[in-house]
Amino acid sequence: MSVDLTTRIKNLKLKNPVTVASGTFGTSDEYAGYVDYKKLGAIITKTITVRPRPGNPMPRICEVSSGMLNAIGLQNKGLADFIEQKIPYFRKLGVPLIVSIAGESAGEFGLLAKTFDRFRSVVNALEVNLSCPNVESGGVNFMKKQKRILDAIKAVRCQTKLLIFAKLSPELGDVLEIADNVLKRGADGISVINTLRGMSIDINGRTSRIVRDFGGLSGPAIKPVALRYVYQVKKEFGVPVIASGGISDWRDAVEFLIAGADLLAVGTSNFVEPRATMEILKGIRVFCRKEKIKSIKEIRGSYRPRDQKGKGCSR
Ligand SMILES: Cc1cc2nc3c(=O)[nH]c(=O)nc-3n(C[C@H](O)[C@H](O)[C@H](O)COP(=O)(O)O)c2cc1C
Repeated sequence: MSVDLTTRIKNLKLKNPVTVASGTFGTSDEYAGYVDYKKLGAIITKTITVRPRPGNPMPRICEVSSGMLNAIGLQNKGLADFIEQKIPYFRKLGVPLIVSIAGESAGEFGLLAKTFDRFRSVVNALEVNLSCPNVESGGVNFMKKQKRILDAIKAVRCQTKLLIFAKLSPELGDVLEIADNVLKRGADGISVINTLRGMSIDINGRTSRIVRDFGGLSGPAIKPVALRYVYQVKKEFGVPVIASGGISDWRDAVEFLIAGADLLAVGTSNFVEPRATMEILKGIRVFCRKEKIKSIKEIRGSYRPRDQKGKGCSR
C-alpha cells in the first residue's frame, strides 16, 4: 500500500513533511554521504546573517542528559557568500529550500528578505530566526522587547512575497501572544521551538562546560515542551507550523503530526545518527501502512483532548 505523505503549505507542495532543523545539517552537502537529499520534503538552512560571523570560540557544544547544549553563535559566511556559493548548489539540487535568516536590526531583516526574494526560483520560504540564545544583537535577549520582533517581521513582509515562518522560543515570553502578533504583521506560519537556555558545569573547573555560561538546550530533553507549543499554536491559529525540538525517531514524528505539525524539522538527532531523517521517513511510512492510513492528512492534527468538552487547550 502506498502512503501519501504529500504536505501542502499554502502554495508550496512538498513530497513529505520531513526536513532538517536550522544549523544541524551543515550548510550544503555535508550530509550527502548519509542522506539522499532528494528524499527530504525540504531543507532548512543554517541561519544566514548579512555579514559573516565567526561564531563563538570553542568549546561551544557539550552533551547533557537527554540532549546537548550549544553556543555556536550563528557562525556563517554571510549573505554574499551564501548567494554566490550555496544558491547554485541548491538550484541544482532542486529540493524545496527554506532559508533561515537573522538580522541585528529591522533594516537587516528587510535586506535579507529583499535579497532572497530575488531567488524565488530556488528559495521557497524564509524562516525568521527571532530566538537565537547565543548572540547579543538580534538574539533572544534583544528580541525580548516584542516591538523588535514585530518590526523585524514587518520589515521582512514588506520586502518579500516568499512564505514567512517566525521561529519562536518560550525564552522570548508568551509564545502564543507573540505568535498572534507576528501573524497579524504578515507571518504565514510559526516555527516552534528554538532551543531553551540551559547550563552545564564542569565540577573540577567550577565553570561552564561551554564557552558561555548558558547555551541552547536541544534534543529529547525539550521534546515535551516543543510538542505542547506545536499543539497550542496549531489549535489557536490554524496556521502552518514547523516543529522542532527533540524529534529523534518516527514515533516522535508521529506525535508531532498528531499535534498538528506541518513540517517535522529534525535537529540534534542528525548529530547522533546522520541518517536520522531517512529512518524517520521510513518509520512514518511503515506506521501508516500498519495502521492502514493512506494519507498523513488522516493523522495530522488528530489529537483528541482529554477534556472532551472540546475546549481542551488550556494555556
Ligand atoms: C548545534 C546547533 C545549531 C543550531 N543553529 C541554529 C541556527 O543557526 N538557527 C536556528 O534558527 N536554530 C538553530 N538551532 C536550533 C535548531 O534549529 C532547533 O530549533 C533546536 O535545536 C530544537 O530541535 P532539536 O531538539 O531537534 O535539535 C541550532 C541547534 C543546534 C543543536
